[in-house]
Amino acid sequence: MDSPRLRYAGRPSLLRKDGGEKEIYTNLLKGFDESTDSILSVDLWLKPFAYFLVYYAMETNRLSATLAAALNQQMTNEAHNAQIYLAYASWASDKGYEGIANFLFRHANEERNHMMKILEYILKRGAKVKVASIPDPGPDPESVNDCFEKVFKSEVDNTSSIYNIVNMSMAEKDWATWNFMQWFVKEQTEEETLALDLLSKIKVAGGVNAKDDALYVLDNDLGKTPDDATLAQDVTVEKP
Ligand code: FEO
Repeated sequence: MDSPRLRYAGRPSLLRKDGGEKEIYTNLLKGFDESTDSILSVDLWLKPFAYFLVYYAMETNRLSATLAAALNQQMTNEAHNAQIYLAYASWASDKGYEGIANFLFRHANEERNHMMKILEYILKRGAKVKVASIPDPGPDPESVNDCFEKVFKSEVDNTSSIYNIVNMSMAEKDWATWNFMQWFVKEQTEEETLALDLLSKIKVAGGVNAKDDALYVLDNDLGKTPDDATLAQDVTVEKP
């Protein structure tokens, strides 16, 4: 009987580099499957190695390099937004606006959840997560009005980044990412609506010139404000 080494040498086509790596590995496995030798045959020591090669040669990353980079950046953007909410909440608490602080602390958590959603998606698509440093949240707001104007601006900036990823996924026909990002499109519409609703209330209370008694009422009101805004698409004639 041929030794395993000789049988192996008798199948030079299995190792020829003329058909791409995957084909070679497939041929290798096929050749080994046909082996009828005993426990001392090539199956015992080379077949696991071939499976190892097939596994590691297989492309499992389902995100392009550009989309992976954009999603990683978006992870940092969400973490940055969380830091902004956290900083403003601390500022509000320090000023005695506990209702506003409570509202902003809850939103800091929401932003961290957004970051985790993106992190999980990158991992589940087989790409690499890169946790980067988070930019400084910037100076404290100068007033309650300034606080919510800045919140609204950071949400609008975030919407632009989300739309950018939606555009990229559409250009690449990466429908999984496009579909995943639709959740964020709806979330951003909600968050912009919520920030605008709050800005309207602050304007009614006097805007930058709001007096303490108006801010006291506003602070109480914001402590009870739900985290989700009512979107136009959820409105009916019965429930305007
Ligand atoms: Fe996750 Fe408000 O952006």
